[in-house]
Amino acid sequence: MLGEVRGHSRHGLRRVLAIGGAPLTGEAAFALRHAGASDVFSWLDNSDTAAQVAARLARWAEIDEILDSALVRKNLVGRSAAWIKLLRQVIEAATFTESSVLILGETGVGKELIAQLVHTLDRRRDKGDLVILDCTTVVPELAGSEFFGHERGAFTGASAPRDGAFALAHRGTLFLDEVGELSLPLQAQLLRMVQERAYKRVGGNSWQQIDFRLILATNRQLEAEVVRGGFRRDFFHRIASWICRVPPLAERTEDIVPLIEHFARELRPGQEPPGIEEPLQRYLVARPYPGNVRELKNLTARMIKRHVGSGPLTVGDLPEDELPPEGALPCWPDEQLASSLRRALAQGMSLREISRITKPAAGGASPGSNRSGAADASRQSGGAISLSRLPPVTRRSSSGERPSRRILCSSSPGCSHGPSEPKRIFRAPARASACSRRSK
Ligand SMILES: Nc1ncnc2c1ncn2[C@@H]1O[C@H](COP(=O)(O)OP(=O)(O)OP(=O)(O)O)[C@@H](O)[C@H]1O
Ligand SMILES: [Mg+2]
Repeated sequence: MLGEVRGHSRHGLRRVLAIGGAPLTGEAAFALRHAGASDVFSWLDNSDTAAQVAARLARWAEIDEILDSALVRKNLVGRSAAWIKLLRQVIEAATFTESSVLILGETGVGKELIAQLVHTLDRRRDKGDLVILDCTTVVPELAGSEFFGHERGAFTGASAPRDGAFALAHRGTLFLDEVGELSLPLQAQLLRMVQERAYKRVGGNSWQQIDFRLILATNRQLEAEVVRGGFRRDFFHRIASWICRVPPLAERTEDIVPLIEHFARELRPGQEPPGIEEPLQRYLVARPYPGNVRELKNLTARMIKRHVGSGPLTVGDLPEDELPPEGALPCWPDEQLASSLRRALAQGMSLREISRITKPAAGGASPGSNRSGAADASRQSGGAISLSRLPPVTRRSSSGERPSRRILCSSSPGCSHGPSEPKRIFRAPARASACSRRSK
């Protein structure tokens, strides 16, 4: 039974609803979830099972419709099971809740893109702006003013009152990037704001009430930091309503080729991406990427710049410093495969079962293939949604005293950008002065 669920779900890519004919034990219910079931419940005599099933199917169809929209497919590239599962979680958190979202993941995996997606999909009425504050750039002495703003004369040099990040994010979204870098005292200062959405400006006496959605991201292992004492437990539990873990590229190597094609399209607008000759493709898929998607993007840019003519990218397009030492080509099967196999065997699976389960996954992951279970699921549930259902997008430049404001997305009806410009949504905005972030 568990094997069947595993086989059908393809690591959670396809939805499986497991309904127990009798009350399920906790052990059975958890085992089903681990095997890939999206939901599990028992068929009880007194419950309206059909309505329960219908409600779940409707929710999943709505999520998969967004997942398969041009907005998501064109900006957040990837069709691997790990990526699809993450996106479904993000879409669910963004559209069906107003909760804080904590995004965890290694450097360069796409945390900022995910934060932008959460804000874009957020369905609040009259939604305000997305304000991004990079916590690595907050100078301790100016932190109060940066977050809370200040009154005129609050300290030397405060010649005029100034709004902080909280005020700017009122009715919108505040994205605290690299939140793991916040000092312990600053975390303590932010507790009340996170809990009660109330703060006082530096040098001010009155409480200001604000309303915004909080998104946070870090590449630190925050749970471990809490245990180590490097991050406040009370602060962690206030910000971690939804935790989204973005998988590293090593866990979604099927996404490498589609990502290269995506970046090639960005670099050569209006042109089809060049093909990739097999030896190069094998190398690019097997090579490690400690800097994740950002590293892949940089490598693609370097290859595209070297590439001339109309043929496919070849090993000749690899920059000199990228060549592996002679005789040390990364190869497949690699340690990642070996460790996955060891884990499956340790869980009691037979090689035959593993082979049966991996066959369909291999079918959906042939190089260059963009078809996905999610797309199929979405097609079955009514096809792609039109971009017009998602908030239109605008970008305004920050002005004067508004240091950390980066306005990316707005639901304002007067927005001038039509649905034909989906790429604008995630175009990197200009970095702001006082909060300018380290270059990447
Ligand atoms: N799935 C994706 N599709 C398209 N582009 C992506 C994807 N993931 C990441 N990128 C691109 O890779 C780069 C790095 O992404 P991003 O800045 O969101 O990573 P990050 O996790 O916030 O990194 P860091 O922890 O270093 O801040 C960006 O240029 C982003 O546009
Ligand atoms: Mg980031």
